[in-house]
Amino acid sequence: VNVYFDNAATTQLDSKVLQAMLPYMESHFGNPSSIHAFGRKTRTAIEKARKNIAAHLNCSTAEIFFTSGGTESNNTILLNAVQNLSIKRIITSPIEHHCVLHTLDYLKQHFQFTIEYVKLNEQGGVDLENLDTLCAGSNEKTLVCLMHANNEIGNLLPIQEAAEICQKHLCLFHSDTVQTIGKIPIDLQKTPIHFLAGAGHKIYGPKGSGFLYINSNNPCKPLLYGGGQERNMRAGTENLYGIVGLSKAIEIAHQTIEADTHHMKNLKNYFLKQIQKQMPQVTQNGLTGDQSLHTILNLNFTDFPKTDMLLMNLDIEGICASGGSACSSGLDAGSHVIQALDLGNNSIRFSFSKFNQITEIDYALNTLNKLLLSSVAQ
Ligand SMILES: Cc1ncc(COP(=O)(O)O)c(C=O)c1O
Repeated sequence: VNVYFDNAATTQLDSKVLQAMLPYMESHFGNPSSIHAFGRKTRTAIEKARKNIAAHLNCSTAEIFFTSGGTESNNTILLNAVQNLSIKRIITSPIEHHCVLHTLDYLKQHFQFTIEYVKLNEQGGVDLENLDTLCAGSNEKTLVCLMHANNEIGNLLPIQEAAEICQKHLCLFHSDTVQTIGKIPIDLQKTPIHFLAGAGHKIYGPKGSGFLYINSNNPCKPLLYGGGQERNMRAGTENLYGIVGLSKAIEIAHQTIEADTHHMKNLKNYFLKQIQKQMPQVTQNGLTGDQSLHTILNLNFTDFPKTDMLLMNLDIEGICASGGSACSSGLDAGSHVIQALDLGNNSIRFSFSKFNQITEIDYALNTLNKLLLSSVAQ
């Protein structure tokens, strides 16, 4: 058996995405900067991809820049904030992705700015009143950096409310939307966001492909210098087939968003309902119901005896889940999110894709029963 429940780490490439990419690996290989026919062919594909992504976000094509993924997009925004946009204060949370938190640690050593952390409630939800108070608390130019969905526990930020709070206090707002692009629609004409980040591999697209939205009122500088690619915002020959794949992945995601959401909500709700029926000690970490992203279910087995090695035992039984984000899984210090919320030592993230089936949930439930209930009987 091979059941893949680690889709928040990465997803399987959709075969339709692969089909869209293949011609750009085989025959359409020109450098998009070349002015001859080969180059024009691939330049057209890149600009078509940009137009497609801009249309899905309802922004201008000039505001979309292709990057290597979420990490690069978040790094670019945060560096620009303190280096070029005169940001003197960043309001964020302790449960952002490491590509935000570690970048801030680094920037703090080199630039003059302060970091303030918004209050989280017991489930890790952002306290919007506290956000409002913090935003109002200083006249210094401020960036608010809060992720749309937490990749470990699935908590959703009420993004419209958060954006409006930022707007009211003239703070810039960056949201790491890596987990929600293609899963929760965002209309940038309705939601006042200045920056956002996306990655192809979370939505059945290729790894190493991503984008950055920069509101046109906030001109930024590149992270990489060299050629004039991406209108001087990101030097280096474009990841052509990555960009084509990313665009196709976003297109498919938007075409099937309703059916996919319905399917994954069903999987998640069924898993949760069944496990709580069979093992009432198990609880859900983080926010619940509609305040939690439909692809992520983080379960807490802490009150269950014999949960050590649970993740490894699941793996042996052919079930791939995760103890934290991909970069903090395994045998290291554990998840900073779980630690920040004081959730104990035995949390497992099950994250779903459109390819998962209910029979796989049943298999996981049977396996958990076997691993956990059998140990109680002994
Ligand atoms: C919320 C979030 N932000 C950023 C990233 C980093 O994205 P990437 O792996 O494309 O660099 C990830 C995924 O690992 C993520 O889940």
